Amino acid sequence: MTDEKIEALISELTLQEKVDMIHGSEFFSTKGVERLGIPPFKTSDGPMGVRKDFKKDAWTDIGLSYDAVSYMPCNTALAATWNRELAYLAGRLLGKEARGRGKDMILAPGINIMRNPRCGRSFEYMGEDPYLTSELVVPLVKGIEENDVSSCVKHFALNNQETKRLEVNVEVSERALREIYLPAFEAAVKKGKAKGIMGAYNKLRGTHCCHHEYLLDKILREEWGFDGIVVSDWGGVHDTKEALMSSLDMEMSVTSDFDDYYLADPLIKMIESGEIDRETAVAKIDDKVRHILKVMNELRMLDGERKSGTYNDFNDKEALRRTARESVVLLKNDDGMLPLDKKKIKKLLVIGENANRMQALGGGSAEIKALYEITPLMGFNMILGGNTQVIYKPGYYNEDIGNIWAGTDDSENGQADSLNASPEPEKKVKDEEKAKRQKEKNAEYMADALSAAKDADAVIYVGGLTHDFDTEGQDRADMKLPYGQDELISKLLEVRPDTVVVMQVGSPVDMSAWVDKAKSLVCCWYAGMEGGAALAEVIFGDVNPSGRLPETFPVSENDCPSVVLGEFPGGDSVKYGEDIFVGYRYYDTYDVHTAFPFGYGLSYTDFVMTGLSANVVKNTKDRKRVEVKFSVSNIGSRAGAEVAQIYVADKLPKVKKAAKELKAFEKVYLEAGETKHITLELDESAFSYYDEENGGFKVDAGNYMVLLAKSAEEVVDIADVILK
Ligand code: BGC
Repeated sequence: MTDEKIEALISELTLQEKVDMIHGSEFFSTKGVERLGIPPFKTSDGPMGVRKDFKKDAWTDIGLSYDAVSYMPCNTALAATWNRELAYLAGRLLGKEARGRGKDMILAPGINIMRNPRCGRSFEYMGEDPYLTSELVVPLVKGIEENDVSSCVKHFALNNQETKRLEVNVEVSERALREIYLPAFEAAVKKGKAKGIMGAYNKLRGTHCCHHEYLLDKILREEWGFDGIVVSDWGGVHDTKEALMSSLDMEMSVTSDFDDYYLADPLIKMIESGEIDRETAVAKIDDKVRHILKVMNELRMLDGERKSGTYNDFNDKEALRRTARESVVLLKNDDGMLPLDKKKIKKLLVIGENANRMQALGGGSAEIKALYEITPLMGFNMILGGNTQVIYKPGYYNEDIGNIWAGTDDSENGQADSLNASPEPEKKVKDEEKAKRQKEKNAEYMADALSAAKDADAVIYVGGLTHDFDTEGQDRADMKLPYGQDELISKLLEVRPDTVVVMQVGSPVDMSAWVDKAKSLVCCWYAGMEGGAALAEVIFGDVNPSGRLPETFPVSENDCPSVVLGEFPGGDSVKYGEDIFVGYRYYDTYDVHTAFPFGYGLSYTDFVMTGLSANVVKNTKDRKRVEVKFSVSNIGSRAGAEVAQIYVADKLPKVKKAAKELKAFEKVYLEAGETKHITLELDESAFSYYDEENGGFKVDAGNYMVLLAKSAEEVVDIADVILK
């Protein structure tokens, strides 16, 4: 459909019809205009697959079987692969399944930067680094949108905590905003060509992000040229006039009084009462409708042949398994303890409730009604076969059932409740009672597990967090492991120092109570329906681990920059006092010891990276490009993948800068004994910073270092670069 036809459509729409198109008339859909052939616009969460369907006006599961889908690795797992191709495949699958389920927009991906490990929704995001997130979000968005489905990149912007998420006001410097919190959104818009953006719940500098003129009009539309749809987060609109005048296009919410939404009857009343000039209002409404129609047109919702998608396609399981495999991060492997030798194990003891837990149906809006989910316990059984006895002991007591086969009641959804800022007193009492029961039972569970540990051929512990902690609507109270796991793991390591410890988490945890005693430590995430199988393949050596941490694991929460220099979670307002020193930018610059650094991960083979050179290949007045070359060799005896990381450091910065920043990376797959020569390119932006005085990115002439590294803490070679 041509632009002229879209304009003609707009001119035919009545005010009421237009208003119906810019607000929800169901929880996940707007109204269409049947007489003009405009369909409703259907959205669905979310980042880990296409969410189950709800009733139109109640947060109640429709209760049928058709909406079970592929359960995909969470974004933190995806980021841990450091693999752009897998990000593209994830997007392609998500878009295909969204279309297969009849959706027009998938409310994903989430790309907020992890500012503090306690943020409840960290697992939905891609870690702490704007460059890594940018590099992965672009192929992800492209993959989604290939399917005639819009992405909805969220939450724009600074939704870095769940505490008081609906009203917390963020105070952040312009530099940190531009260097840390916005680049991935900019990449999604400018390079990924995202058609949808979701406004965040929180405020920035006093104004709610869903109708923030500076964020939406100035930055998103004017600077980045975004002409897609801006959707509010559900319940993120607070003012009719502001919402009308800003670049927000569609108001969605969590209550069923759809006509009372800010951009529904109140808007019409405001126009009719003359409170707002009709002409101005109609022009603004037309803009919103235009954005929506334009996207509908691009998705072939108005004419042309639209892709139909499919879901649960057998052929897509391969990509899901690959992503799960590559997301596993091997953190410790003293004495080459891993991989375990399948043949030597006749009796395997698996301890830890996460081994048997299905994680798909948790976390808030990222929950997935999975077609299936391979738990770690299933994975171990599947790979070992019938000659090995696999014994399972939970080790600690968690009464919140996670295994759907043990029966759950998920008919009511807690999302609307999660928008209630203060927990009800009743809930508090219930929580306290639960904690008491937990304590009582834990001793019994622990004794049982420890006594079984003595005579097993191998012991694997699978613990960590669950979506009771990694969840929307609340931040974790601290970074500690729940359910008394510190005590259990410490005791277990005394009885069996050879225990393989697996942490299944969506965000960093404090492991200081026992980490020095553990010989082997594996980090896996909520890695989707194939997660348990992939974990088993890594532990038993069928797959060589190649994941790298997309976020620092600090020793404890008290080391985090948002705590030491800033505030987390703050009060009604939160000051981002750490400024640009987020994640490794802080630990590195301020020389703070970490448990495991950003970019870190081991392999069953060994790599050597050599021969780094960095040359300015073109240096005209306004364009500088640096060509970086090096070699990566696999000097071990099995195939594997190294993630070569290129950081840039300014030798004599004119303004305060981080010690180094990630500016390029390449995941290099190598056979045993193989060497590959890699060339990467750094453009001008790799050397730039945001100049607050003049309001723009700037590159200072001077001496820089290009660092070749295995992680933020392991630099293997340095090359000098002079920019004139
Ligand atoms: C979440 C969004 C989600 C929306 C719709 C909100 O509470 O913040 O990420 O897409 O609900 O479920």
